[in-house]
Amino acid sequence: MASVVGEEVSNKQVIFKDYFTGFPKESDMYLTTSTIKLKVPEGSNGVLLKNLYLSCDPVMRILMQRVVPKGFSNYTPGSPINGYGVAKVLDSGHPDFKAGDLVLYDGVTINSLYFPEGIDIYFENVGGETLDAVLLNMRDHGRIAVCGMISQYNLDQPEGVKNLMCLVYKCIHMTGFTVRDYYHLYPKFLDTVLPYIKEGKIAYVEDIAEGLESGPAALVGLFSGRNIGKQVVVIARE
Ligand SMILES: NC(=O)c1ccc[n+]([C@@H]2O[C@H](COP(=O)([O-])OP(=O)(O)OC[C@H]3O[C@@H](n4cnc5c(N)ncnc54)[C@H](OP(=O)(O)O)[C@@H]3O)[C@@H](O)[C@H]2O)c1
Repeated sequence: MASVVGEEVSNKQVIFKDYFTGFPKESDMYLTTSTIKLKVPEGSNGVLLKNLYLSCDPVMRILMQRVVPKGFSNYTPGSPINGYGVAKVLDSGHPDFKAGDLVLYDGVTINSLYFPEGIDIYFENVGGETLDAVLLNMRDHGRIAVCGMISQYNLDQPEGVKNLMCLVYKCIHMTGFTVRDYYHLYPKFLDTVLPYIKEGKIAYVEDIAEGLESGPAALVGLFSGRNIGKQVVVIARE
């Protein structure tokens, strides 16, 4: 249904209950419904958005911890869970945005059988036993880019990594990075990748959960192998 500026409509939110340890459960979140007036206050330079698609990301689990790594801001119990998404501008007092604009906001055993010549470059997303197996199979002067360690996010105590001496023996270069240091390159990324998607040269897979009510289950599912492809929650298609 089309949203009309000035109308009062219901506004659903997924609320974070409280910090916890272990695997996330749907009951760690709850849904509330309030009302919101679809109008930016007179004289304000604010922007009123209607969420269309929301992203479910493993990092959201990290933000549900009482203590978070430097540079992260954890969720506040009793407040909505926030994340990335695509939204439509409904009303705007900001010169850069107008109504109708779309905006983007903010296991395995690996062994030498599979890598007979060793691994040159490893993009780390899992951690734990996988990283240990990879270290043993890295080549001399190999490189490891550390993006994430999803196998560790639900553990009270992180697993130890046993084979770190391989960094020394094999002169391996291992460096972590976070996406926030590279946001300035995002427009360039879109310029490069969007044409390839349009030409069908890059395909992507999405796992779409319908409605904000399905958000908690979609987030919990990231850690139990339920999603196939990027987990997205669709709130509205227009
Ligand atoms: N450095 C950064 O700035 C940055 C930014 C974004 C994401 N990341 C990291 O990138 C990684 C992937 O995240 P994503 O956003 O692309 O989401 P994603 O691919 O949807 O990640 C979730 C997937 O991880 C797999 N998984 C869950 N628990 C696992 C475990 N214990 N062992 C092995 N695999 C497991 C599941 O795959 P299956 O269904 O196949 O089991 C699940 O579908 C995560 O480690 C995340 O923290 C880092």
